Amino acid sequence: MTQGPGATPHPIPPAVQEAYGPADLGSMPMFAGGFINFGYWQGFDLGRSLTEDDRIGSQLAMYRQALGALVPTEGLRALEVGCGLGAGAAVALEEYGFARVTGMDIHPQQLERARQANSGLLGRRPGRLHFVQGAAEDMPFDDGEFDRVLSVEAAQHFRDLGAFARETARVLRPGGRVAIAGFFVPDAGPARAGRLAELLDSFASGLDVAHTVPLLTGSLERAGLSGVRVTSIGASVWPGWDRWLADAWKPDTWPRNFLRAYREGTLDYFTVTAERPVR
Ligand SMILES: C[S@@+](CC[C@H](N)C(=O)[O-])C[C@H]1O[C@@H](n2cnc3c(N)ncnc32)[C@H](O)[C@@H]1O
Repeated sequence: MTQGPGATPHPIPPAVQEAYGPADLGSMPMFAGGFINFGYWQGFDLGRSLTEDDRIGSQLAMYRQALGALVPTEGLRALEVGCGLGAGAAVALEEYGFARVTGMDIHPQQLERARQANSGLLGRRPGRLHFVQGAAEDMPFDDGEFDRVLSVEAAQHFRDLGAFARETARVLRPGGRVAIAGFFVPDAGPARAGRLAELLDSFASGLDVAHTVPLLTGSLERAGLSGVRVTSIGASVWPGWDRWLADAWKPDTWPRNFLRAYREGTLDYFTVTAERPVR
């Protein structure tokens, strides 16, 4: 932790600054309901036209599967890394019995939006929901301050997974648990990053980084976390995401090329969990 009163905030990469500042990615109709993730579509009927309610439900379901992987019990303190507009942090507080939920994001404009969108809940649950500016790689919290750490579809933006893993291990108390849901390259194939940049503008522009699963799991283990488990959930993400887009977006456009990358084996969606050992 290098931040404190008057400390310089961690630099925001220019592509992240733009996407979540002026471009306001979360306001695009492909997202909805205050979430910015591709959705978890298990149980949705993909054979019919999908509605905005379906879309919001899919993003809520993404949070619920990630929050379930955290094994929450009553009265814990949770941190969300890359909380975006705060809809998922609100779900965590309202549905999972946490005593306190802290949503952290690197982007000050996202935090303003999160506070505004959740003003009612912030008023109704004083002291139990916080939105704090900070970077995954440099978290403004004390050692062992949290029982649970969650991150949903944000790690593709982190520049340094090793620093994220070290900070996660540091802010978790012994016996604490982390769950990370997001998209990663499934293996360490050397050509994957180039192929992703060909298919997907967000990788070409530097908004997304082609992190591999072995890099993530190795980083968590080197940070001292144990019991690292990786579950592929791509089959419940990409076909539904593509079905949702199909009415408005032509094939071979940015959002629709994610399904192509998945089918080629270049990218998949995972939930990864780990624990901080008790000793
Ligand atoms: C795709 S959005 C996901 C938001 C939310 N988790 C959701 O699923 O609705 C990614 C968020 O991560 C934030 N972010 C990007 N890089 C970050 C970093 N290094 N540390 C913390 N947050 C970061 C962005 O500002 C953005 O709000």
